[in-house]
Amino acid sequence: MTEIMKNGPVNPVKIQDNTFRDGHQSIYATRMRTEDMLPIAERMDEMGFWAMEVWGGATFDTMHRFLGEDPWERPKLLKKYIKKTPFAMLLRGQNLVGYRNYADDVVRAFVDKACEVGIDIFRVFDALNDLRNFEICVERIKANGKHFEGTICYSLTEPHLGGDVFNMPYYLDLTKRLEAMGADSIAVKDMAGIVSPYDIFALITEMKKVTKLPLHLHTHYTSGMASMAYLKAIEAGVDIVDTCLAPYALRTSMPAVEPLVVALQGTKRDTGMDVHKLIALGEHLEAIAPKYQKHLATNTLSLIDAGVLAHQIPGGMISNLVSQLKEMNALHRIDEVYKEIPRTRKEAGTPPLVTPTSQIVGVQSVMNVIGGRYKMVNNQFADLMYGLYGKTPTPIDPEVQKVVLKRHKRGQTPVTGRPADYLEPELAEDKQKIGDLAKTEEDLLTYALYPATGEQFLKWKYGVEPMPESVKPPAAQEAGKGK
Ligand code: CO
Repeated sequence: MTEIMKNGPVNPVKIQDNTFRDGHQSIYATRMRTEDMLPIAERMDEMGFWAMEVWGGATFDTMHRFLGEDPWERPKLLKKYIKKTPFAMLLRGQNLVGYRNYADDVVRAFVDKACEVGIDIFRVFDALNDLRNFEICVERIKANGKHFEGTICYSLTEPHLGGDVFNMPYYLDLTKRLEAMGADSIAVKDMAGIVSPYDIFALITEMKKVTKLPLHLHTHYTSGMASMAYLKAIEAGVDIVDTCLAPYALRTSMPAVEPLVVALQGTKRDTGMDVHKLIALGEHLEAIAPKYQKHLATNTLSLIDAGVLAHQIPGGMISNLVSQLKEMNALHRIDEVYKEIPRTRKEAGTPPLVTPTSQIVGVQSVMNVIGGRYKMVNNQFADLMYGLYGKTPTPIDPEVQKVVLKRHKRGQTPVTGRPADYLEPELAEDKQKIGDLAKTEEDLLTYALYPATGEQFLKWKYGVEPMPESVKPPAAQEAGKGK
């Protein structure tokens, strides 16, 4: 009998449901529409989830750009049906829900507004694990009395936890610093799905020794290890795990909730959730599946990407590399790129590979292979070497840095302060530029975050330009065709 089966204090595993955010972001390119969430919203609220992740990550970008939906309306609408379960969002620190650092005035206004539209728990992360990029977010989350989930991006340089960079002391140091910042819980965010069962057992065990805060594990099924990782994390005492309803689970998404619920029944970590009700909710997702089928990746027979076990390169990053190489007619050189990535990454200070650093390192690695090392330099890569994203886990290679910054428009001497200290306030100028088209503070923020597509969205929203058929919901598209 293992420890978990023995009698002892009952300590149910808490479940965060990610169906309405990371679930469809992972399998359907974030295309799930609010109208398809509403029919099961009230029943989801009855399940007893610790939280439901409904916003943040890529949802804001996708909604206004491709779905013709106002991103601010989704949490407001869901809140009408989901009254008990707290709402969680994924927030990219100073990058908010975009791809660059925004000035502090934008960050303050965004977090305040997110609280106002119904977000209760903020999972804040930074691609470099540079906690200075959390400061302004945390200030506003706390001022609004909301939950700050301090997040550690899990990364590796080899198949297992350890080595010179992403080792146990690295993660324990971050844990202590997040607690000191006022975290209400701490999340380990494994975006690539590379955490292995015994590594997470060791990590959670050690983290429990340095903090009393609830520990939350987020992983992706990508490599096929995620369910095993959850079980070992649960044995080590992890408090909360992220899952999706079965139809939106597995593949590059999260583990499914249903098997986890049954696996834990009768143990002292029993979730107490009703598997029959969960299965019934999944039926709705099956029913709407035909609408979204075209976004599902069907190019491989395998549901997992076993290659990740060999090279630890996140799935999203690989698909970007493939399309970049295809455009250059150089797909046959992908093995060279796989070899180049660790080298470029090390020279760039070994950033974790997560949005946006995964793209930045990936693009530069391709350029290094195709055009010769650092003969061409991607602008964002130069910004990373300049210090604009923050402090990297290891020092940047000084020789490479010199070469890369030689023609950099911002200057040759790298900066070392908090990245946003180098940014001027933005909102006043944005307000002037967008003028009357932004009728609310929410509109102004949409424009501040996404100037080009945000302005386009506001034109659709207020009927200045007709919304293209391709952006409308499928039902409306059908109706349009009938005319
Ligand atoms: Co994720």
